[in-house]
Amino acid sequence: MAGHKNIDEVTGVETTGHVWDGDLQELNKPLPRWWLYVFYATVVWAFGYWMVYPAWPTLSDYTRGYLGYSQRAAVTADVSAAKAAQETYRQAVASTAIADIKNKEDLMQFALAGGAAAFGDNCSGCHGRGAQGGIGYPNLNDDDWIWGGSLEQIEQTIAHGIRNGDEKARNTPMPRFGLDGVLEPAAISDVANYVRSLAGVEGVDTAAAERGKATFAEQCAACHGEDGKGNQEMGAPNLTDPIWLYGNSQDAVTQSIVTGRGGAMPAWEQRLDPVTVKMLALYVHSLGGGK
Ligand code: HEC
Ligand code: HEC
Repeated sequence: MAGHKNIDEVTGVETTGHVWDGDLQELNKPLPRWWLYVFYATVVWAFGYWMVYPAWPTLSDYTRGYLGYSQRAAVTADVSAAKAAQETYRQAVASTAIADIKNKEDLMQFALAGGAAAFGDNCSGCHGRGAQGGIGYPNLNDDDWIWGGSLEQIEQTIAHGIRNGDEKARNTPMPRFGLDGVLEPAAISDVANYVRSLAGVEGVDTAAAERGKATFAEQCAACHGEDGKGNQEMGAPNLTDPIWLYGNSQDAVTQSIVTGRGGAMPAWEQRLDPVTVKMLALYVHSLGGGK
């Protein structure tokens, strides 16, 4: 066999001499030319790539490549371009009156996005992800405002907060009628029934409510209004609607009258820059029912 070429009889092509199962033979066919050239080209390309771009790790560093390209540098450049664009918008927000921002579509969009992000970071812990609130924490989506729902009022509430010692904070407290002994428990129970009747709560003791009416006029109307519709100057909630900060059960209302509650919120001006506070005011105002 040595020195002989084995030729397959059927195809006339040389075989490698390998035989399986007695008569299965392997034809000796070289790789197609085009395939080989493509293969050599990729090898050359790989060497070129290694030289031009960062490629091989070394012990403490890596080969940098002739081009000096770095993804990190590319990202840094992108980020600083985005920051510069943001800075332009932030300055525009800073220098534009809050009421005018609403009329400038792109500025408003920027402010709402910034406000939504800042809300998620700073406010949702108390007011909820969707600003829906909870017991003691007002819902910011409805158009029922304790301290006022105009842009300026909301900005003031956010910047200086509520009952927190800040000089410009919203401060009026409700008296602690029970804790300070201003009213007897029976009188508190009566006026609680009266307040609940104002809001049309079911299951009110009407005789008690009738007795509580005079106490309300004497002790409560100065803040909550003769008709119980509230007063935003004092942060005294409307007691005639179905929206309750602390609940409308006899127990909850009694508790409000006994303790005065005294809900508090931080002054965000001390923690956030003025542009962020402005964007937050626009965002909260946009949530629903801003006046
Ligand atoms: C620590 C809890 C807490 C955090 C955090 C908080 N709030 Fe408040 N917020 C309150 C409470 C409590 C009240 C209601 C106080 C009261 O009884 O009048 C309130 C009231 C408000 C009001 C007034 C609502 C009205 O009806 O007048 C606005 C507006 C408001 N918050 C916005 C914000 C924004 C914006 C943030 C984030 C920057 C924020 N709050 C973060 C607790 C919080
Ligand atoms: C000096 C003003 C003032 C007076 C007087 C006053 N309130 Fe209030 N009242 C408030 C304020 C402010 C709040 C909100 C407290 C808070 O947000 O924590 C409030 C809250 C309440 C609430 C809770 C409302 C809710 O949505 O859960 C009830 C109920 C209430 N007052 C009833 C009364 C009754 C009854 C009297 C009279 C016996 C009275 N208030 C007198 C200022 C006053």
